[in-house]
Amino acid sequence: MAPKRQWRKAAIGVSLDPVQPMIMPMNDAPTILKATPSTRLKGDVRVPGDKSVSHRAVMLGAVAIGETRIRGLLEAADVIRTVQAMTALGAHIERDADGTWSVQGTGVGGWREPEGTIDFGNSGTGVRLTAGLVATTPIKAIFTGDESLSRRPMGRITDPLRRFGAKIDTAPGGTLPMRIIGAKDPVPIEYELPVPSAQVKSAVLLAALNAPGTTTVIEPVICRDHTERMLKAFGADVEEEWSARGRLVHLTGQKELKACDIEVPADPSSAAFPLAAALLCADSRVTVRDVLLNPTRTGLIETLHEMGAEIRILEPHQSGGEVIGHLQAETSRLRGVVVPAERAPSMIDEYPILAVLAAFAEGTTRMEGLAELRVKECDRLQVTAEALAACGAEVKTGEDWMEITGTGGRPLKGGAVIDAHHDHRIAMSFLVLGLAAQEPVTVRGAEMIATSFPGFVSLMRELGADIARVEAAEA
Ligand code: S3P
Repeated sequence: MAPKRQWRKAAIGVSLDPVQPMIMPMNDAPTILKATPSTRLKGDVRVPGDKSVSHRAVMLGAVAIGETRIRGLLEAADVIRTVQAMTALGAHIERDADGTWSVQGTGVGGWREPEGTIDFGNSGTGVRLTAGLVATTPIKAIFTGDESLSRRPMGRITDPLRRFGAKIDTAPGGTLPMRIIGAKDPVPIEYELPVPSAQVKSAVLLAALNAPGTTTVIEPVICRDHTERMLKAFGADVEEEWSARGRLVHLTGQKELKACDIEVPADPSSAAFPLAAALLCADSRVTVRDVLLNPTRTGLIETLHEMGAEIRILEPHQSGGEVIGHLQAETSRLRGVVVPAERAPSMIDEYPILAVLAAFAEGTTRMEGLAELRVKECDRLQVTAEALAACGAEVKTGEDWMEITGTGGRPLKGGAVIDAHHDHRIAMSFLVLGLAAQEPVTVRGAEMIATSFPGFVSLMRELGADIARVEAAEA
């Protein structure tokens, strides 16, 4: 059997484990990356594991009975924060030398009170879903996050979680730090999502695990459903129903979860970057293997097909209750389209890269229903529009829409220095833009890429993309 390394916590809240430098290369020094126009991107690659599935696998493992084994876990800063949080709450987590993670859970409601605060870094999913689990566990916990996470709204989860009986305090304005005292005698709730958010839906379902009786979440617009799927795999009592109000998810709580084996497919949101680069750079063809193709996540592929992109799904098959397949993209002439508001939840993380693609298309692309983009790692609507304009694109925005008129296939000017605004997807999107522009694009704050896509630069370089680190003086 492969040797195991137990997860250890250092005084600064970062693990001392020898794998740490490999999986969490973030430090205080900002990273500046420069993408220089490139052609002939070629290759067959695998991007890291899906972030949403990875968080949930660690969390459900931490409340299940027995040993959950996870293969393909995303070893990026956001998920490592969740590993550290689950450890602080009483789970026992180890990583084998072959990269398999094992999680020994405590049983539903069995978490212990953590010592000190738990820092979730940049991760909205980490903090909001963990808050759900703590809300019905009789312990006190205090959550913090980085500058970006500390600006994001927590009211969307504190409202329903208080209804279970949890006592929750936040900073004025409903932001972190957040103190939760979990309900000793929780009550089940019925909750209709006021915003289309899988994080809110998941926080409620996870809180329901330790509430007696049946909790119901109503989602008028379907959001990613990984929590429901994985809860079923762990043996939770979950049922779905359709009504005029939308999709209803019922969960009957206080039933133990049983550990299971999880294989994490590649993240479609990360796959989007090498695929987009292949679409834009001349004479390119790139395949990304084993990508999660859950229909609640494939809005970008649908949109790209409408735009005329040469993007193919190869060998789709079922694995672990999910559809998985290889995605192959090649240099394409794109045309502008209208992306309807109903599609937003299935591609919510893909708008920055779609906006970059639209800036090279023929005609105008209009994206509607973008209100949620304003509360992501940064205000993605504003930051994307400003950065595109700095690169020479024609962009218009409103409160919840964006319109981009593309170059019709000609390279955009580029040549700008873009700040990532603590947002990994802004950083990667504008590096892709730089690969297809007339002049290189420089991204400051690119260390944020490590929150979701460790190895991004080397993978892109392997495909032939010219992305390199530069010193501050050269930027
Ligand atoms: C996620 C849900 C989405 C997404 C985030 C991951 C999840 O957020 O933007 O990157 O894992 O549930 P919202 O639920 O706030 O839309």
